[in-house]
Amino acid sequence: MIPFLDLGAAYREIKPEIDTAIQRVLDSGWYILGPEVEAFEAEWAEYCGAGHAVGLANGLDALILALRALDVGPGDEVIVPSHTFIATWLAVSAVGARPVPVEPDPATHNIDPARIAAALSDRTKAIMPVHLYGQPADLDPILTLARTHGIAVIEDAAQSHGARYKGRRIGAHGDIVCWSFYPGKNLGALGDAGAITTNNPDLADRVRMLRNYGSREKYVNEVPGVNSRLDPVQAAVLRVKLTHLDDWTERRRALASQYLTGLADTDLILPHVPDWADPAWHLFVVRSAAREALQARLSAAGIGTLIHYPIAPHMQAAYADLGLAADALPLARQLAGEVLSLPIGPQMSPDDVQTVLRQVADA
Ligand SMILES: Cc1ncc(COP(=O)(O)O)c(C=O)c1O
Repeated sequence: MIPFLDLGAAYREIKPEIDTAIQRVLDSGWYILGPEVEAFEAEWAEYCGAGHAVGLANGLDALILALRALDVGPGDEVIVPSHTFIATWLAVSAVGARPVPVEPDPATHNIDPARIAAALSDRTKAIMPVHLYGQPADLDPILTLARTHGIAVIEDAAQSHGARYKGRRIGAHGDIVCWSFYPGKNLGALGDAGAITTNNPDLADRVRMLRNYGSREKYVNEVPGVNSRLDPVQAAVLRVKLTHLDDWTERRRALASQYLTGLADTDLILPHVPDWADPAWHLFVVRSAAREALQARLSAAGIGTLIHYPIAPHMQAAYADLGLAADALPLARQLAGEVLSLPIGPQMSPDDVQTVLRQVADA
């Protein structure tokens, strides 16, 4: 049996460190924000090469609070990838703005910078590239376009911890970078957690205020904020896991290159890595027109796979009111029908990958 991802194995590998960190929080008597959250924020900002990090309750809130910090709201439009996890779109809807989808580059699966200009309008307030599957999006043309038009760039980095674009870690290229530490992420907590990173102290300050009821000073509320604070227990766990992130990313990279070599002669479409990209390999996503048969065969052999994602956001009931026909975004629709994520993770062995490769070859 090869599970898609074994979170228990990750815990077992570093159990004494995790247990000690959790016990430290329990003993501290400090259970909201405080030193553990501040320490993680400092360590995460430094890792990302960003001036500031603000710990939040989850990745969706990170996206929502980033938009709110930039005053994006009703009447505004935000460019989003047509092919992404729906949370990217939900954040835009949550602030009352309109998601304007742009199709991916079919080779990288990430938003195609060349298609963005045509989607801009005088209502566009921000572009939200997603570093999907841990593959960095092509940021430079997006940043140039945004600067030219005076709009913001909010990166959805929920899947790209430690990935590099042109040699520099994802974390401070755009105005705000949004992170999820959902347990299955490359840097994952033991529950929900998230953060933003930024080089802009004013934006960091605004998110810090918004996450805490819109208050900088206790019982003084400047705006109707929310409660979206990073839990200190999760912060302590994340501090431990951060010390293992580079090692775990290296293991992912080795497994990915084993897959790339082993699958080169199959008729699957493999992940394309541009020469400027150093992916975090959150997911290893192949494409096949016969995806369902392949998934069924792997499943019968005890190999777990997942589909990221089976229904394009514009085809979800949640977005029926946008009035987008299924064929309005043909690439998003096609990818939803063809992508399959093979198992990958730091606790998976090269032998496991060999087993998957053998089953794919027999398919
Ligand atoms: C691309 C992307 N954006 C946003 C999110 C939302 O993060 P969370 O689940 O922490 O709210 C996720 C993960 O779930 C994601 O994969």
